[in-house]
Amino acid sequence: MQRIAIVNMKGGVGKTTTAIHVAAGLALGGLQTLLVDADPQGNIGHAFGIRRPRTLRDLMLGDAALDEVIVRGVREKLDVIPSTPAAFGLDAQLAGAPQRETILARRLRPLSSYDAVVIDSSPAMNLLTYNALLFANDLIVPVGMDGMAIVGARQTLNGVRDIRDLWPERRLDLLAVLPIGVNATNATRAAFDALDDDPEMRGRLYRPGIRQCIDVTYALTQRQTIWEYAPRSRAAEDYAAFVRFVVHGSAGDRTVVAADDEKTQALV
Ligand SMILES: Nc1ncnc2c1ncn2[C@@H]1O[C@H](COP(=O)(O)OP(=O)(O)O)[C@@H](O)[C@H]1O
Ligand SMILES: [Mg+2]
Repeated sequence: MQRIAIVNMKGGVGKTTTAIHVAAGLALGGLQTLLVDADPQGNIGHAFGIRRPRTLRDLMLGDAALDEVIVRGVREKLDVIPSTPAAFGLDAQLAGAPQRETILARRLRPLSSYDAVVIDSSPAMNLLTYNALLFANDLIVPVGMDGMAIVGARQTLNGVRDIRDLWPERRLDLLAVLPIGVNATNATRAAFDALDDDPEMRGRLYRPGIRQCIDVTYALTQRQTIWEYAPRSRAAEDYAAFVRFVVHGSAGDRTVVAADDEKTQALV
């Protein structure tokens, strides 16, 4: 089972968009996938139009079983554990809990029917983010293409280094630094230069990135993925290529565009 966390200490860089499309893309490619929202803002629930009484918070507190919090069949082969702002209180509520950083990993341990679990996270090193990092084996760090891109990504990787120091036996690898909103401006060029100057990020930089594409914003407000809303858009093409990279570990052939009725074939 592949365990992927989407992290960046900066907000608005494309974490949720990427979590949704990596999870939905893996599911379209035939992998049984679980998408976990570890951000109390609950954007994933909004994006899929899910409202449930039982959420990640209840799972974390031991008030609900795994089966009760999983929303099944959000799309074919795609299940979701949603979150709501009630989870903002978790840091305080679990302050005295033993081994509280590994609660999520322990609660999700019975999962065996999934090929992949993708976790979205909030822009803070809070308890849920620690829990996401201590469940995951692979990290995707989306970065916005502006002057601050490097800052949030660097802070994130420093936090990951702390976790590796504290739990040296765990495998936690940087799978990709993913540029979001790539365009032909100087800002994009400067952001690429800054990422290239960072010795840790340079080698994991997914260079094509995801081009700037307003359709992703429209798609999520329509509760659709980009492949459903605008299958011929730049973002549909770019996220399909990135999902192939996640599956195969290389950028591969970027010429295949996810066509409406051939999504599965186009993706993997
Ligand atoms: N490739 C893109 N092109 C244009 N806008 C994008 C792109 N990816 C994401 N966005 C927009 O950027 C905003 C922040 O994205 P989001 O995924 O919510 O970031 P985060 O989860 O890191 O806060 C959203 O309005 C989203 O629609
Ligand atoms: Mg988000």
